[in-house]
Order: sequence, then structure tokens, then C-alpha cells
Amino acid sequence: MNKVAVLGAGIMGAGIAQVAAQGGYQVLLRDLQKSIVQDGLVTVEKNLAKAINKKRLSTEQRDDILSRIQTCTDLAEVHDADLVIEAVVENMAVKKQIFAELDHLCPPHTLLATNTSSLSITEIASATRRKDKVLGMHFFNPVPAMKLVELVQGMETSHDTIERARQFTKQIGKQEVVVHRDSPGYIVNRILVPYINEAVFIKGEGLANAEEIDMAMKLGAGMPMGPLELADMIGLDIVYAVILVFYNEFRDPKYRPHQLFSTMIRAGYLGRKTGRGFYRYSNGENQEVLNN
Ligand code: NAI
Repeated sequence: MNKVAVLGAGIMGAGIAQVAAQGGYQVLLRDLQKSIVQDGLVTVEKNLAKAINKKRLSTEQRDDILSRIQTCTDLAEVHDADLVIEAVVENMAVKKQIFAELDHLCPPHTLLATNTSSLSITEIASATRRKDKVLGMHFFNPVPAMKLVELVQGMETSHDTIERARQFTKQIGKQEVVVHRDSPGYIVNRILVPYINEAVFIKGEGLANAEEIDMAMKLGAGMPMGPLELADMIGLDIVYAVILVFYNEFRDPKYRPHQLFSTMIRAGYLGRKTGRGFYRYSNGENQEVLNN
């Protein structure tokens, strides 16, 4: 495997392009408009500058990494990639359309991976004639810092595909965990999102305020961050959307979201990104406890 194409130069795509280039691969980063790809590259440059400041990277290494990242807006240019990692919007119709096009453009050996958080790998693979070479490659945000990649098998993903993906994740310095069944949330989010939901139930039932709940989990369970701080960081709209996927897909009431989610979302209390969630934020950082 030599050449990796990354589709989508947003939060995840830029990070994935960076770690692939750091791993020695030739990378082609693609988005719909030049300005978006450019923004993605600026993100990579900023990340590398931070690494230089921390003396983890030399300027020669930075230049080397950046020289391996090419950009494009035309999907046809990914035709010679050995691995394509798709990180575009979380929309099944858009992803299926892209996978159908990739199937026509790329040679038969090319692996087609999706970074989807909640959509079915099996359904995305169904848009291609190479279902055995389609897999989930689920990175975590921020990609350069987070060590894990979940490699997810769709119904027809082959053993060989998983092995090749495993070699890639090792080469870029990540630790993979193979998820043997295509099921919403895989491992991490299947545990994490209901955990956050339970914290929202505890808050909604008035057992404690946000700061007390977060402190309890940090000091009592050794969590680096409390569940409600984490919800504010991820965005309440995102957490709510994921728990609803679980609820609808499994038809199991244990995934019922607390009603507080919809009230807060309607009020625009989405967390850090809107300046208010379970806490209030100024300059994106400072937290003030809200006791309501
Ligand atoms: P984002 O909104 O930052 O970036 C998505 C990019 O895709 C945008 O730059 C957009 O211009 C581009 N795009 C939209 N339609 C496109 C198309 N047809 N062809 C090419 N590019 C197109 O989104 P983000 O957060 O990077 O998420 C991307 C994927 O990664 C989603 O599937 C998401 O569920 C998944 N994911 C997100 C995580 C996160 O924490 N943000 C974590 C793990 C997975």
C-alpha cells in the first residue's frame, strides 16, 4: 500500500491525511472546493507547528510530511489510490453515491474505507461491486492525538481486507481494534453515549448538579473528564443524534434519551460550540457552573 486518498478535508479528514503522511504514505486530500482543502491543509500545518514547538518534530520532518500531501477537488484524481478513506458528511445518500463512483474509478485491489460514526458499513458497501473490500475505519477526534482506530467488518468484508487495514493502522502509529459485526456505535460509542445519557438522566432527575456529577465520575471512577463536560465538548446535538440511532436501530428502551436533551437543544444549549450547554463558556474555555 503506497497511496492513500482521503475524501473530506474537515475535522476528521485533515487529521487522517496528516497521520497517513506522517506514516510515510503519499496522500491525496480531496474536498468539494479548493478553499476547503486549503483550510484542511492549514489545520495540518498548525498541528505540525505545535509538534515542532514541543520538540517532537523537526522542520525537515514537517517539510517531508507536507510534501507527501497533495490536494484535489476532482474525485477522478483518486483513481490510483491503494486505499481510500472517506470522511465526508454523515449522510447515507452522499456516502453511497461516492462509493459507487469510487468503485468505477479505482482498480480492483483498492480498499474503500469509511470513517462513518453511525451509518451501516454493509449498506455503504452495497453501493459497490467489491463488498469484500469495503470496511469501516473509525478514527477518533482529534485524530493526531487519539491512538485508537476501530476497524469494522461489514457483512461481507474479507479477512484479507481487515489484515491490510491493520497493517496500515500500525504503519501510522495507531492501535486498531477489530469490530467483527457492523453494529451502531461499534465499541467506544456504544458504551460512551449511553453513559452520557445516564448522566443526563441523573441531572434531569435532580440528584445532583452538573459539576457534582462530573466530579463524582472523575474522583470516584477515575474518568479524565466528567460525562456532562464531555457532552458539552462533543455537542449535545451530536450525542442526542447518536443515542436516537441506537434507540431506533435496536428498538430497545434502554437507549431512550432523556427529555432534557431536546429542551436544551431547542434552547440552543449545544455545549462549547454555542457557548452554553451544561456549563457556560466564554472564549471557548472558561466554565461557569450553572446550577439549574
Ligand atoms: P466535517 O463537517 O468537519 O467535514 C466534512 C467534509 O466533507 C466537509 O469539508 C465537506 O465539504 C465535505 N464534503 C461534503 N460532501 C462531500 C462530498 N460529496 N464529497 C467530498 N467532500 C464532501 O465533518 P467531520 O466531523 O470531519 O466528519 C466526517 C465524517 O467522520 C462523518 O462521517 C462523521 O460521522 C465521522 N466522524 C466524526 C468524528 C468527529 O468527532 N467529528 C469522529 C469520528 C467520525
